[in-house]
Amino acid sequence: MAKTVRVCHYKKLKIKLNGDVYPCCTSYPHTKLGNIFDKDIYDKIENTDVICECPMFKSVKRTADDKIDLDYIHYETSNICQASCVCCPQRKDKMPNEEIHLAKIRELIEHYKPKNIIAIGGEILVQEKAFNDLFELKQQYPEMKISTITNLCVGKERLKRAEEIFDKMTVSMLGFSELTYKNEMGLDFNKTIDNFNELYNNKKVKLSPKYLAMPTNLFEIIPFFKWAINLEIEKIYLHCIHEFEQVANLKNPYWVKTFAKVEKQLKTIFESNKEMLIAKNKHFISIHRILANRTNITQQYLDSLNLSNIVKITV
Ligand SMILES: C[S@@+](CC[C@H](N)C(=O)[O-])C[C@H]1O[C@@H](n2cnc3c(N)ncnc32)[C@H](O)[C@@H]1O
Ligand code: SF4
Ligand code: SF4
Repeated sequence: MAKTVRVCHYKKLKIKLNGDVYPCCTSYPHTKLGNIFDKDIYDKIENTDVICECPMFKSVKRTADDKIDLDYIHYETSNICQASCVCCPQRKDKMPNEEIHLAKIRELIEHYKPKNIIAIGGEILVQEKAFNDLFELKQQYPEMKISTITNLCVGKERLKRAEEIFDKMTVSMLGFSELTYKNEMGLDFNKTIDNFNELYNNKKVKLSPKYLAMPTNLFEIIPFFKWAINLEIEKIYLHCIHEFEQVANLKNPYWVKTFAKVEKQLKTIFESNKEMLIAKNKHFISIHRILANRTNITQQYLDSLNLSNIVKITV
């Protein structure tokens, strides 16, 4: 596929937890534009040339005709979270200068008025300033689309306000039963499902449930998938922890047999829902490369079911 040629940072900015600003999520060191605390950060954003190339884009020198018109500002908030997921790479430290850090980001958002904001913690739904800033931004700029990734395990009052803020939510689940969910995340499965159902029924927020598989919750990806595949939702993520191949010896016959069972059950779900999936006519399911490899959900398999436009193997 031909690459899109553009001035990448005139279309998207990614602000990392330390305030460093990049043109995209890849954050190659040579593409760093500056830091939100730099006095001349606006000048740096607007007057830097980023020469870069990736599978999708080619970033080229600015010309006098190029004007900054951001599709996205994507930023990270603090790692504060009410859950205790063992797999989580983030420490739960509070940002040392959270107030001023988030205020700088808000200034940038109000200055550039991007079409979309992606804000991810930690858990934004339990972070006071990050959450309230987004609430106020949405009131001020209702046309801005705001998305996040969340565990969604919060009280009803917070849920109601979240529903007013977010246009899209990806909901991470590390189990699909009360016990596993409690063990993996330290949270209440019924509360999350109840919240999910409330948002689902109200139809305001576009929802994408995401299963994060790991050795201790692997089989519950099956009831998760059976549940999610029948919902009118944006997308389903069948993902797994990055470290799956390091935390388990997947060549051991135990894992070979285990994955053979998961393969059989996942394929049964794909095959029995094939016609319904084809009718979606959009990218509806993302399956992580590691899971796809271990369960032999190959490109050829997806092609044979005519699902290659619906199910994508991702990293
Ligand atoms: C760090 S969380 C923050 C957002 C929110 N608290 C949540 O869990 O959805 C962002 C994403 O990272 C995923 N994640 C957590 N630990 C991971 C790991 N070890 N490997 C890959 N993804 C992971 C979560 O499932 C979530 O989708
Ligand atoms: S070319 Fe790709 S990697 Fe480089 S800045 Fe643009 S989007 Fe990011
Ligand atoms: S809910 Fe998200 S941020 Fe919180 S511990 Fe789990 S993965 Fe980490």
